[in-house]
Amino acid sequence: MTDPGAEAPGGPAALQHPRFARAYARAVEGMNRRGGTEHRRNLLSSLHSRVIEIGAGDGSAFALYPATVTEVLAVEPDDYLRALATEKAVSAPVPVTVAAGAAEAIPAADASADAVVTSLVLCSVVDQSAALAEARRVLRPGGVLAFYEHVRSEHGVLAVAEDVLTPLWKQVAGGCHPNRDTLRAITEAGFTVSDNRRFGFSVHPLAPPVAHILGHATTPVLGTP
Ligand SMILES: C[S@@+](CC[C@H](N)C(=O)[O-])C[C@H]1O[C@@H](n2cnc3c(N)ncnc32)[C@H](O)[C@@H]1O
Repeated sequence: MTDPGAEAPGGPAALQHPRFARAYARAVEGMNRRGGTEHRRNLLSSLHSRVIEIGAGDGSAFALYPATVTEVLAVEPDDYLRALATEKAVSAPVPVTVAAGAAEAIPAADASADAVVTSLVLCSVVDQSAALAEARRVLRPGGVLAFYEHVRSEHGVLAVAEDVLTPLWKQVAGGCHPNRDTLRAITEAGFTVSDNRRFGFSVHPLAPPVAHILGHATTPVLGTP
């Protein structure tokens, strides 16, 4: 499934966020306890065969892959988080290979995956439409994009507040944009959404709930646009 010849534009070095990575690695454990693990389980439970997880972080999802998954390629650009993910891969219930790389240039061949997983990562990629085009490229026809993302609020005032916050937030939070309409981007990239749940979730006990989406979308089968 891997194509070691592929290289990210700008290279993963441009995506190192050492301070954020350490803070996230500490925070994600609490987030997982307060509901994140359950969300991830729902995200992954229907997947099978060859999976590519992009922006895998510390590997929080690895323990939750079902036995129907035969191999996972976990792509992570940040050195610190990738090292944590590599440790977690050893005890994962399915074979997980952790690789350096970026969503905008996934190190895998065309149509080599049955599913692509994005979990709290489409907020952070530099170029969301390029990342989704890459997901389509590596998925086989009829393959599944499994997404769990925080997204732009549907409430006008909150959405404007997210717009105001974004320039500062992306500096301190590893490139994260609180104001992205990711479901729309998924549809515009040519995926068909098969299921989606929208809900509020607080990433920290002191933070207000933020809109999240969790669902699955498919690429066209051969013969359809
Ligand atoms: C908020 S963390 C989420 C990590 C993990 N997916 C999870 O659910 O806990 C955002 C992740 O996106 C990664 N990331 C940022 N820009 C990326 C890009 N262009 N391509 C791939 N991953 C990226 C970060 O290194 C980080 O691991």
